[in-house]
This record gives sequence, C-alpha cells and structure tokens, in this order.
Amino acid sequence: MDHLRILGGTPLWGAVAASGAKNAALPIMAASILASGPVRLAVVPRVSDVDTLAQVLRELGMAIAGKPEDGLRLETEDPRPVRARYQLVRRMRASFCVLGPLLARRGRAVVALPGGCNLGPRPVDLHLRGLAALGAEIRIERGNVIAQAKRLRGATVSLAGPRGPTVTGTANVMSAAVLARGVTTILGAATEPEVVDLGRFLNALGARITGLGTPTLRIAGVEDLGGASYRIIPDRIEAGTLLLAAAITRGSVTVTGVVPEQLSAVLSLLEAAGAGVQTCGERVTVSAAGRLRPLSVVAEPYPGLPSDLQAPCTAVACLAEGRSTVSDRVFPGRFAHLDELNRLGARIGLCGATAIVEGVPRLSGSTVASSDLRASAALVLAGLAAEGETRVLRIDHLDRGYERLDEKLVGLGARIKRADARVALLDRRR
Ligand code: EPU
Repeated sequence: MDHLRILGGTPLWGAVAASGAKNAALPIMAASILASGPVRLAVVPRVSDVDTLAQVLRELGMAIAGKPEDGLRLETEDPRPVRARYQLVRRMRASFCVLGPLLARRGRAVVALPGGCNLGPRPVDLHLRGLAALGAEIRIERGNVIAQAKRLRGATVSLAGPRGPTVTGTANVMSAAVLARGVTTILGAATEPEVVDLGRFLNALGARITGLGTPTLRIAGVEDLGGASYRIIPDRIEAGTLLLAAAITRGSVTVTGVVPEQLSAVLSLLEAAGAGVQTCGERVTVSAAGRLRPLSVVAEPYPGLPSDLQAPCTAVACLAEGRSTVSDRVFPGRFAHLDELNRLGARIGLCGATAIVEGVPRLSGSTVASSDLRASAALVLAGLAAEGETRVLRIDHLDRGYERLDEKLVGLGARIKRADARVALLDRRR
C-alpha cells in the first residue's frame, strides 16, 4: 500500500481548482436508481469512494459508463437486484444511500447495516424511522436492513436527532419520498450544500421538492422520474483543506471554482486567528505570514464549521500561539488523529469531549498512520509544516475522498512523493 513522504517546511503558494464534492456525488449517484432515463453527471471527483459506489450500483443492475473526469453516464439495465452486500457497504457507509432509492423505485431493498466506524457511533435509526413513516415495512435480519413497500405514501417525518439533523438520513428519506403517493414534509432536515445538491438533482429528474437549504422540506410525490444531465457542486471540504494548508505552511493559496458562502465558517475561523482571507467571485485566497492566534474550533451542522474540517483545523491549531480548543458536536469522539499529531510533536490532550491544543513553535517529522479520511488530511497538513520528513501511512483513507491531493499540493510547491509503505512500516517498528 502506498504512503506519502513529505518534506515539510515549504510555504505553499499559487492557485488550485476545487474538484467535485464527494459527499454530493455519492448520494446523487445512488439516487440515479430512481431515474427511468439515463443520467449524466459532470464534475464527479476521481476518488476511490466513487469507484466503490459504482461497484455497488453495478451489482444493483446499473450500467455505468465513462470516467469521472469526463463525466459518468448511469442507467438502469436490470431493475431486479435489490441487495447491497456487507463487503461493500462496510467499506463505505455512503453505500447505505441506496436504501431509499431502491425502496421507492423497486419496492424492496436489502442493504447491509454499515457497522462500526472510526468516528464513533453512527446509528441509522433516523433513516429507518423516516422510511417507516412513509409506510415501509422494515426489519433487521442477519445484519441486513430489509425494507419493502408496494408504494410509499407521503407523511410528516422528523429527522432531528440528538446531535442535529442527519445528512445521509435526509438523503435517503428525500430520495424515497419523491416517488411516494401524496405530500411528504421532512422536519429537521439537514441543510448541508450536498443535501441541497441532491435535491436539485432530483428536481432535474422531475421531482417536486421545495424548501431545499432550510430545515423543512416539502416533497410532492410524482409517478415517474426521467433522466437528466447534472453538474456536481465543488467540494467545500477539499477547498477548506487546501486553504488550511496555506495557513499551516504560512503561504498563500487561492482555490478556484468554489462557492465562498459554503466556506464561511472555516474562513471566519482563519480570519479570527489572524490569517488573511480574500474572496472574489468563485475564488478564495488564504494567506498567513506568521503564527496564528489560538483557534476555537467547534464543529457543528451547516452553516457551522463542518465536522469534516475539524481534524485539519486541529492540525493548524497545533502550530498556533497559545491554547486552542477543539470540540465536535456532530461526532464528539472524532479524535483518532490526536495521538498521531502528538507523534509529530504537537501537545494535545483531551478534557472530556474537548481537545486542548497547546500551540508549539514547531513540529518534527516522523512516521504516522491515518485512521480515517479527514484524519489523514490532518496528518498531511501537519507533515507539510513539520521540520524534516514525515511519512503518512494508510493513505488509502486519503484517496477515498480527496482527488489527487498530493499532486495538487505539489502544484503549490509542496515536496511530496508517493512511495511503497512497506519500507516505512519497517522504519516505524525500529
Ligand atoms: N445520527 C443518529 N441517527 C441516525 C443518523 C445519524 O443519531 O440515524 C447521528 C450521528 O451519530 C451523528 C449525527 O447524527 O452524531 C450526524 O450524522 P449524519 O447522519 O449527518 O452523518 P452521515 O450522513 O453518516 C455525512 C458525511 C460525513 C460527515 C457527516 C457530518 C456523507 C457520505 N458523509 O455522514 O462525511 O462527516 O455527514 O457532516 O455525506 C467524510 O466525508 O469524511 C464524512 C465522514
């Protein structure tokens, strides 16, 4: 398996384009099951999660042609399969997004429960409660969710959970409700831009959804949905990660092709810490000259700071002056990156559900291992700023959700090489 070798200490400089949003592309691909005509998707990110979902969808009878970079064409070839198996769903939880579309379009779905996760507990009770409210019969048998309904019927459904709305739960219930008989009202819906993008895609297929971007969605069910051509929104998490890379290396990076409002939480955080932030149309620039002031990082549902940027922000806090604090209200236990950052010389401790980061003047390169996608991005950022060489292992996590992040960083002046991980593992054992 590959690892990254990063020679830290070079400020990043220049401009880089954002890729398509992984977390919009995945539920949109899954919702293509609903379409009775071909779906053409542009700006699909080249990430391994997209490949995994394509495999799930092929097993569900979809024909998928093209490459993400040139656009994907998805069309139902065989409408009979209804099973998404554990081996694939456990590899990527977003596969669970096929549940609502399968149920609504094919009347039955057998989808493996996703199981454990490095971010802490990730139940799917709200997904199931929402689909049951639409009239689905749901049972769990041998680790699979089995859901069926001849035709779903509109209802009022609340998706508000103990820690706020659920993103993929909203995707599942919204995707199911578009073909239900009558009107569905979803209360406590997620307002994340990726959920809005899915809703716009469904409307492009002929669905009738209003209220997108607000916590209350109204969905008037239709009999059938056609095909459509659709362009995925830019990835605000990737863009945020690249801008945080500018801040941690004390450089200046412009990310192009973004929607700046969708980045406002991370931009405010950086501005409050003393970084320079400029937005102009679809471009955002972040620059930093010296050490940042302490950060107060609180991850929350949109429009708050995304939980997916919490780990990269924590990396930046490691080199800020004084004491920063980090908490994650979406996934309170999403802290697997802390010990690895400490291996690079950071001083982070956990006090209850808050990470206390005592800023240090420098980090020093070492071998570290990623535990999940966003943790791996945090380690790459720390490696870019650390003195000497950092080896980041398990970058299969990174490749799940960032399109060629190492190449994009090299384009900004970073010194990064992909290499064979076996060598680094031997080093780590010494
Ligand atoms: N929750 C419940 N019950 C449910 C569903 C969720 O209690 O049925 C809780 C969760 O335990 C969590 C909170 O609600 O505390 C929010 O979870 P949510 O369902 O919103 O997360 P998700 O839909 O599983 C998506 C993204 C994640 C991102 C979260 C939060 C996709 C494919 N995944 O997950 O992205 O962290 O929303 O924004 O969209 C990533 O890209 O690295 C990633 C993990």
